[in-house]
Amino acid sequence: MAATAQAQPNIALIKYWGKRDTRRNLPATGSLSITLDALWTRTRVEFDDSLRHDELHLNGAPDPQTLARASACLDLLRRRAGTTARARIDTRNHFPTAAGLASSASGFAALVLAADAALGLGLDRRTLSMLARRGSGSAARSLFGGFVSMAAGQREDGEDAFAEPLLDAAEWPLAVVVAVTSNTRKSVGSGTGMERSRLTSPFYPAWVSGATADLAAAHAAVRARDFAALAEVSEHNCLKMHAVMQASQPPLLYWSGATVDCLQRIRTLRERAGVDVFFTVDAGAQVKAVCAPGAATQVAAALAEIPGVDHVLTSGLGAGARLIDHGEPL
Ligand code: PMV
Repeated sequence: MAATAQAQPNIALIKYWGKRDTRRNLPATGSLSITLDALWTRTRVEFDDSLRHDELHLNGAPDPQTLARASACLDLLRRRAGTTARARIDTRNHFPTAAGLASSASGFAALVLAADAALGLGLDRRTLSMLARRGSGSAARSLFGGFVSMAAGQREDGEDAFAEPLLDAAEWPLAVVVAVTSNTRKSVGSGTGMERSRLTSPFYPAWVSGATADLAAAHAAVRARDFAALAEVSEHNCLKMHAVMQASQPPLLYWSGATVDCLQRIRTLRERAGVDVFFTVDAGAQVKAVCAPGAATQVAAALAEIPGVDHVLTSGLGAGARLIDHGEPL
């Protein structure tokens, strides 16, 4: 009744921002992401009939907020297994401190995979992706490695809203340089932010209706390994999402001054120096520079010297969530 899984975070190049159903956590738009390899979450789940409540330790300490979300997600798996046994969850994020990378994607992907094995359910990846989606929309994508596509779906029951692999990491081994800015302003979480944008941003309808064209362009660029085309549509999609956020009421302004300086630097590197690099930014101030593998060192050095950038970290693309041996440390 116990199993351990590892999953890596992913970064969306075509973003998910907005829900078509909050109860089933269904996205209003499809998305396209890359899974990283240098950062990971390991989660051990053990079901135990003698427990009265689920228990969760994150990096060694109890975490009631994460516990509530994890319990709700485990309930879906318990229902399928026909059990009410509570679980002991021990989860560890191997992320450099303050990397500014959401751990919910890797966290929920590892949780559902470990729970599935612990309960002996043997669910397929598509089903696991939908279960991870209930915990966090972006987690549906971390079940898979490399380039991943997530469908918004149309069905009310959400059975068509899952992620699928597009291309293995080795087939187009890009690198990601994350510039961690020293911005400490508390930001609004993605769930609250998305609902605020849906309800108040005048640009929200245009954002949703434009998603299909952006996804099609990104799919074509990935299939053709066309870096310039992927750069163009990814930056456009990212800036459009931030326009939607900034036009929400009250506004969602996630950027710091250093964020904007990084965006300008990346554009200059590409347009003036011919470096294969483009940016993307999520619901925070950190900038992710996606680059051709040979360009990562140069991009990292350029971003590290920008005032307000605390440090940079570099990652390649990695594999999807996987079970790991019980003997391995978390
Ligand atoms: O999965 P969530 O609820 O953490 O939302 C992710 C939102 C963005 O990171 C901004 C975009 C995305 O597609 O990952």
